[in-house]
Amino acid sequence: MMMQQYLGNITSQHALLQQNFQKIFGDSPEFIASAPGRVNLIGEHTDYNDGYVLPAAIDKYLHIAARKRTDNAVKLYALNFNEHCQFSLETLAPGNLSPQNVDATWSNYIKGIAYLLKASGRNIEGIEAIIAGDVPIGAGLSSSAALTVAAALAFLTGSDADMDRKHIAALCQRTEHEFIGVKCGIMDGVISLFGRAEHALFLDCRSLHHVHVPLNLDRHVIVICNTKVKRELAASEYNTRRAECEKGVKMLKKWRPSITALRDVPITDFKKYEEALPLLTRKRCRYIIEENTRVNSAVDALKAGSLQTFGALMKASHTGLRDDYEVSCKELNILTEIAGSVDGVIGTRMTGAGFGGCTVTLVHRNALETLQTRLKTEYLQQTGAEPEIYLCNVSDGATVHHLSR
Ligand code: GLA
Repeated sequence: MMMQQYLGNITSQHALLQQNFQKIFGDSPEFIASAPGRVNLIGEHTDYNDGYVLPAAIDKYLHIAARKRTDNAVKLYALNFNEHCQFSLETLAPGNLSPQNVDATWSNYIKGIAYLLKASGRNIEGIEAIIAGDVPIGAGLSSSAALTVAAALAFLTGSDADMDRKHIAALCQRTEHEFIGVKCGIMDGVISLFGRAEHALFLDCRSLHHVHVPLNLDRHVIVICNTKVKRELAASEYNTRRAECEKGVKMLKKWRPSITALRDVPITDFKKYEEALPLLTRKRCRYIIEENTRVNSAVDALKAGSLQTFGALMKASHTGLRDDYEVSCKELNILTEIAGSVDGVIGTRMTGAGFGGCTVTLVHRNALETLQTRLKTEYLQQTGAEPEIYLCNVSDGATVHHLSR
């Protein structure tokens, strides 16, 4: 979820927030919490299988400019939507929110995280705040994680409270589970909080151990291309995939009782038992097990500077997502096919949950213009719609910027 409006660079975004804060609340904000969106380079749908992921934070942000209040009131204004919302921290309870995604407005994420911060024992106080950002909404670039992360940091800062960042990521995930209805994994919150400029983040989603891997892309750039397809199936199919993987684990336990997630199954073991699984379960499990291996190989390839290998792994990831995990869609496939046929493109795949959203492509900078032109014209010819292209820098994770008066 969340807003989309081009706001310029981070400094001009902050200035715009300050001006608007003054207009709405007649005062200056005390601080601005900013959380980035992310692009996942490889390791899709592996996070909720206790597996490995390799995302990078991008320089598209969700900002919350805020000042403390001395009571329990939370007064919010979402600049991109021109919408106000006000609530009291006293009356927050899961039942007061809309726990299903049908009604998941931006304020539900904020109420959810506020409730969970309070429930964790933090003495959370009221704030007044303006929210704005340029993470494309519903495009698979983690606009909702950016919102909950920024909101968590805003509440903690406004209450002079502290919390370990891994704990914050876990609460952001719980917000989605308990207040939005999406049983997502931990990746999005972690990368928004722990991202580092010019690095991808190799994350073990079971231990949360992570390593920043330098993105030595030589003369290549990352291109994100938005299908602009409305992801209607995303939430329900997402939860279905999770259930299918859990079913696979249950069945595989028959032979390997100690496993608790698909992450525990080496491909050699899987090959021994896969014939006994129903076809659908077999395909879902195979994709996850292979993708976990691919993420590890991708990290090795990056470290060794073997970009061609990295690109080949991206392509194999897309094939698995399309054919075995079945979360791609016609438009995502069209974009990857166009990109894959451009000389100078070394890897391309869908990124994020799927059923629409974006592709991520690694291209030599000499071929960047050709790639952009072909994506625009051929996608338009084939679908009748115009894609949106983002050339992002890989950025640092969430920050809180204190403003002097
Ligand atoms: C969404 C979820 C993540 C992850 C991806 C797919 O972004 O929020 O936890 O599962 O889909 O990799």
